[in-house]
Amino acid sequence: MYFIGNWKMFGGLNSLNSLHRVIKFYKGFKRNRLVKIIYCPPSTLIRPMSKKLKNSRIEVGAQNCHENENYGAFTGSINSKMLKDVGAKHVIIGHSENRQRGESNKKINNKIRSALKSGLKVVFCIGETSQEKRKKKTYQVLSNQIKTGLDKVKNTRNIIIAYEPVWSIGTGLIPKSNELIKIIHFIKKKYKNLKVLYGGSVNPKNIRELKSINNIDGFLIGGASQDAKKFIDIIKKTYN
Ligand code: 13P
Repeated sequence: MYFIGNWKMFGGLNSLNSLHRVIKFYKGFKRNRLVKIIYCPPSTLIRPMSKKLKNSRIEVGAQNCHENENYGAFTGSINSKMLKDVGAKHVIIGHSENRQRGESNKKINNKIRSALKSGLKVVFCIGETSQEKRKKKTYQVLSNQIKTGLDKVKNTRNIIIAYEPVWSIGTGLIPKSNELIKIIHFIKKKYKNLKVLYGGSVNPKNIRELKSINNIDGFLIGGASQDAKKFIDIIKKTYN
């Protein structure tokens, strides 16, 4: 099971102090062979975090990248090769917070292909808005996002899908279990070997309900991942 922490635009160097707690927990956790932890901090923390996590088997990822795999005159941007250079092994692409700021499926596709070329593993986010859900367009939206996002991607071995309904991010709302099972099944039917994570308001309170969904391969965790105790609690409760 994957437990991926997305810190979003939170945290400075002092936030790394809380990691020792997670490192210690992970080392001593009996089921740790079943657990893969990945932290995706802001880009400014990738390097120092990688150093802190050295030898811990906890990996580091970025939250986005530019679609151009070469260096170029793109002020303020960072590409996948630069992320890899400072220690990232993964990158989140297609997060709804970036889609809402104008990132298209086509652009996401370019980013995914560029990241894979640079040797990063991709956490590819998809999800419908509340309006799309109300209009019963969920499956159509997810289909489009996946189809265009993975266009010309021949090998999906290094891709994980994170299903994050936009209406559940940061709201405390989660989908009904039977809906989630169906949606994950739908995604997996399209791409046989893809792992599918769930993201959106995952916390120590709702994890028992979420973990009972047996086709989920893990969780993409926002707010709760910034709190070491909550993050550890989520992992512990997934296994008992
Ligand atoms: P929350 O867990 O804070 O709802 O955020 C989810 C998310 O967007 C992770 O990428």
